[in-house]
Amino acid sequence: MTAAAPTNSATNSATNSAIVTDYKARTPGSGALFERAHKVLPSGITHDARYLDPYSIHVARAKGARKWDVDGNEYVDYFGGHGAMLLGHSHPAVVEAVKRQMDLGTHYGSSHELEVRWAELVCELTPCAERVRFTASGTEASHMAIRLARAYTGKDKIVRFIGHFHGWHDNVTAGAGATYDGGTTPGVPQEVSALSIVMPSDNVAAVVKLIEERDDIAAVMFEPSGASWGQAPLPPGFIQAVRDATTKKGVIMLMDEVITGYRWSSGGAQKALGITPDLCIQAKIVAGGLPGGAVAGRRDILDRIDHDATAAKKIERILHPGTYNANPLSAAAAVTALTLLRDEDLAEKANKTAAELRKALTEVLVQEGVPWGIYGQSSTFLIYPNPFNDPIDPATFDPLKVPFAKLKGARGAGPLTGKIRMGLMTHGVDVMGSPGGFVSATHGGAEIEKTVHALRQTVRALKAEREVKAV
Ligand SMILES: Cc1ncc(COP(=O)(O)O)c(C=O)c1O
Repeated sequence: MTAAAPTNSATNSATNSAIVTDYKARTPGSGALFERAHKVLPSGITHDARYLDPYSIHVARAKGARKWDVDGNEYVDYFGGHGAMLLGHSHPAVVEAVKRQMDLGTHYGSSHELEVRWAELVCELTPCAERVRFTASGTEASHMAIRLARAYTGKDKIVRFIGHFHGWHDNVTAGAGATYDGGTTPGVPQEVSALSIVMPSDNVAAVVKLIEERDDIAAVMFEPSGASWGQAPLPPGFIQAVRDATTKKGVIMLMDEVITGYRWSSGGAQKALGITPDLCIQAKIVAGGLPGGAVAGRRDILDRIDHDATAAKKIERILHPGTYNANPLSAAAAVTALTLLRDEDLAEKANKTAAELRKALTEVLVQEGVPWGIYGQSSTFLIYPNPFNDPIDPATFDPLKVPFAKLKGARGAGPLTGKIRMGLMTHGVDVMGSPGGFVSATHGGAEIEKTVHALRQTVRALKAEREVKAV
């Protein structure tokens, strides 16, 4: 046991909440690691989504749908590697492929067969993909896709939507930051942010009108799930209306499939919806759980980075180096994972489990009389903890009836969200801060049962702390 546990900030750590006390008592090893981390890492973390007050767990290993922290606590994992682990942790075939590749070399600085096979699989599975270029992350793919769209159209403006996340590079921070006000964010010049037209996503007629009226738009970029993998879903008909308007106007429709790719279906959201964009970006699952991303789409657009195509047209080529593009380890994991998910329809398997999970969690709220909502698309689930105390019937909860600011504000529920997470962790379930998470193809009945128990115990503990009022 460590001495006085270090803490991340003043909110939950300052309370005498039994939930927080239990969490800290179960995680002394994580507390000690946090103490070291805090001295060398801002906030003691390496990704904003891992922030938790007083501190987050430190994980020692993961397998399938489970992971274990340094104190030996076991969790049903819904972080799923930030959405990358559709196949579950350490899938034996992926581990085997990566180990084999380690012996063969991790970086040749040359072309190799696995990258060709990887590209063939992306083009086979993704409806819009006539060509693909690999990157080292989703952020890099997002950056390149915007550059391609601008070069191809000769226009500068990118239409994006409040709260939709496309990575952390300068072109996509306005409207995705903490305030969602569309203004620029620290470190990003106003001139750069002004190249984005950030729109609300609940008024498709206004978006169509904008596309029709303006002549300076290169691309319309969005998460097909709605903001933050569906935390604020898009209204029905939104994507088709954008597709129709962009086609008519010669504007590029750029679908961010970093989360939805290979998850919403084996061919991503575009296959699930039957709506093909001009360009899409992918990351996470596309690289089999290792680092990697991709820009895929129409050949004539990707041709802007092709030597022969640009030479033939006598136009300047877009440069695209990147030391770890399609590195052999990621390529080995990716080829194995994409082949498996294609042949075994793993996206569909995870979708079914998640639907059962959402139903079971909704029943908990109904039985316990908690005015929250459970929702989510595909293999995701989200908990709306109703921090505004609106009258909500969990049995009929519809996120489309809740204003965007409230849905996204649930994340900002801060101490409450933290307590939900710590309560669930105390009962062996780790969810993301939304709160919610990703279901993998290895989650099943045992994980659902454990999650149901954890939610029930957590809402009861929250009631005892007067954090939730029963209906
Ligand atoms: C929809 C979406 N786009 C882009 C990104 C950025 O991807 P990466 O974290 O690989 O840079 C993410 C990351 O979570 C994402 O969810």
